[in-house]
Amino acid sequence: MLARSIVSRRSIATSARLLNGTTHFGSKTVPTEQKEKLVGNVFSSVASKYDVMNDVMSLGIHRLWKDHFINKLDPGKRANSRDPMQFIDVAGGSGDIAFGILDYAKAKHGDTVSTMDVVDINADMLKEGERRALEQGRYHRDPRVRFMVQNGETLDEIESNSKDVYTVSFGIRNFTNIQAGLNTAYRVLKPGGLFYCLEFSKIENPLLDCVYQQWAKVLPVMGSIVANDYDSYQYLVESIERFPDQESFKSMISKAGFQSAGYESLTGGICAIHWGVKV
Ligand SMILES: C[S@@+](CC[C@H](N)C(=O)[O-])C[C@H]1O[C@@H](n2cnc3c(N)ncnc32)[C@H](O)[C@@H]1O
Repeated sequence: MLARSIVSRRSIATSARLLNGTTHFGSKTVPTEQKEKLVGNVFSSVASKYDVMNDVMSLGIHRLWKDHFINKLDPGKRANSRDPMQFIDVAGGSGDIAFGILDYAKAKHGDTVSTMDVVDINADMLKEGERRALEQGRYHRDPRVRFMVQNGETLDEIESNSKDVYTVSFGIRNFTNIQAGLNTAYRVLKPGGLFYCLEFSKIENPLLDCVYQQWAKVLPVMGSIVANDYDSYQYLVESIERFPDQESFKSMISKAGFQSAGYESLTGGICAIHWGVKV
């Protein structure tokens, strides 16, 4: 807890000192225009071993978190509703959440008509999602599903007020400008639309935090053993450290214009589900 508070305070102090035109990349300060490329390199590098990365980082628990995220969201067109739902999953390259939402909508609500835009800034991650769709025999060349290379901060090709549900899972902490991403989520949602985010967060239990701090130290070493990729795993640990805590992120969601912002911490705050409604 103490170690993490020190890191958090250091992050705030460093943020205050950041010069115009610079931003964080893990623990480094880099020119803002370079961050997108550096993050791109990380995910291009892990794309083909993406499940390994998630399993190493979360000891496999990410699958339970994602299932809980989708169950809680309870997505799908209701029988008494006329129109299909328009979903968008941002930073969704792997397809885990997008396909999970469509599977759930069909199984729980008999919804086979709603549409999904799977959006990611990284073409390699999107290719990985498409490869999985092909391999699993679902959502490949499906007219309901579009894979689009787009920056979540701007979503240039997504119309304003066009989506019913916006999801982002383990993606938004990598944005150069997180507030711009939230403002854009607000822009693309219809009035009444729901923002739903799954992201690493701040651990609330001191004992668990202590265990996590030790784990975070060995993670890059694990990354180099299982994926021959120390640097990407080091970046991922540092990006988690830098991400705002539950209350701060909730404030950012409200600042974007969302009402009824709230969150649920999972596994002692290792990650959290955040939400908000566009009124
Ligand atoms: C850890 S992966 C998460 C993938 C997936 N959502 C999941 O939960 O398995 C993070 C993703 O964020 C994407 N990403 C990073 N910055 C982005 C941005 N500015 N706009 C859109 N996607 C971004 C990366 O390319 C990568 O695919």
